Amino acid sequence: MIRMGGRRAASRTLFLLLLLGAGLLYAGCGGDDGVAAVAVETVAVTPPRPILRWMGPAFVRPVDRELVARCGKEVGIAIELLPAPANPVDRLGLYLQFLPAESDDIDLIDFDVVWSGTLAPHLLDLNPHLTAEERGQYFPIYLENNSVGEALVGLPQMGDVGLLYYRTDLLEKYGFEAPPDTWSELEEMAAAIQAGERGENAEFWGYVWQGNVYEGLTVNALEWQASMGGGLIVDAEGRLALDDVAAGALDRAAAWVGAISPESVTVFQEEDARWQFQNGNAAFMRNWPYAYGLGQAEDSPIRDRFGVTRLPRGEGTEGRHASVVGGQQIGVSRYSRYKDTAADAARCLTDARAQRRRALADGTPPGIAVLYEDGDVKARIPAAAQIAESLAEHAVARPAAMTGGYYTEISLVYFIEVNRVLTGEQDGASAVARVGEQVAAWLE
Ligand code: GLC
Repeated sequence: MIRMGGRRAASRTLFLLLLLGAGLLYAGCGGDDGVAAVAVETVAVTPPRPILRWMGPAFVRPVDRELVARCGKEVGIAIELLPAPANPVDRLGLYLQFLPAESDDIDLIDFDVVWSGTLAPHLLDLNPHLTAEERGQYFPIYLENNSVGEALVGLPQMGDVGLLYYRTDLLEKYGFEAPPDTWSELEEMAAAIQAGERGENAEFWGYVWQGNVYEGLTVNALEWQASMGGGLIVDAEGRLALDDVAAGALDRAAAWVGAISPESVTVFQEEDARWQFQNGNAAFMRNWPYAYGLGQAEDSPIRDRFGVTRLPRGEGTEGRHASVVGGQQIGVSRYSRYKDTAADAARCLTDARAQRRRALADGTPPGIAVLYEDGDVKARIPAAAQIAESLAEHAVARPAAMTGGYYTEISLVYFIEVNRVLTGEQDGASAVARVGEQVAAWLE
């Protein structure tokens, strides 16, 4: 009993300590339940300012601590890393609690590329805090994605972009000299390799990707649409831009399901696709760069038997290679007490020196073009050339900046309707029409 009590007391202390970091999140939450009472308790012991608080990566790595220490010194105010939710939806939910309350408790936040428009009203314009040269270091696609009106609301910490993974040994086995350049070539190669491999491996499929009802499906479907010359839900002015080409792209992908892609691809996220591919059960995979290092792990069944390249292009004059960009950005809260210093810190945490450190420490691809010419970075990231090519030449942004804060809602409608095309419940034309009807109100 005593032991139990002791353990309970200890876990309560831990809970209070955790709330110390996160306690500010309850500031402004009314109510007289237990949680609010605990939060009040913690306010009094919050360390005195000045300190910059960064709701940064969910999984803090040694390099994050190193950068926090260095940048804190450089800007003259120590930076504290706050615990952050691992689930991106929870993270956004949290931001949408404390930012509209104009809380000055958090100075810097990490956010996914898709939230630039949603968070823009609460984020500082970083343009005045950067020289043209500093701004020009980042891949232009990130500046485009993070510019909402005239304001630059975030800086990229890394580069993230869609890539095509392919099995080098299987291409050779089936007499293909190079990875596919067009979707038709991919369809043909995937079918041929699958037919050949099925004899020995009933689990084998030609092409795996992300078809689940979630943001990753928006990513995949926009890549199909863009590569075939279709619209990206809305155009640069924020007007609805779903057309017949987009509808055709969705029908084409739906035809892959059950043919060259497993039926279950309609519930696949990144890790499901990687599981299939890395276990040797797929010829091709669409995924982000992170899957490269894992595929090359010592115990990986496909180690040294795969390569990466740009995603296939659509046929015809409108066809192009198109890769959606992703990744974490750093923004500065407008309600920070130390705006200028926080902006300096955001710059320091994302500059070439910082991104080089991230690349060398963890293999994180940089969001800065010149680093892909750095010998050490190239040695650490074997797919550097392909990642840089896709970021520089084929990258497309999701319509986060020009959807007036409604990106999340629009993407939700879109991926639900697209998934219904993949599962055969409707065709591409129906999805395009239904998305148009449902999002019209958000586009004014
Ligand atoms: C990756 C990308 C992110 C994207 C997500 C979709 O994490 O970096 O931008 O929204 O995948 O699954």
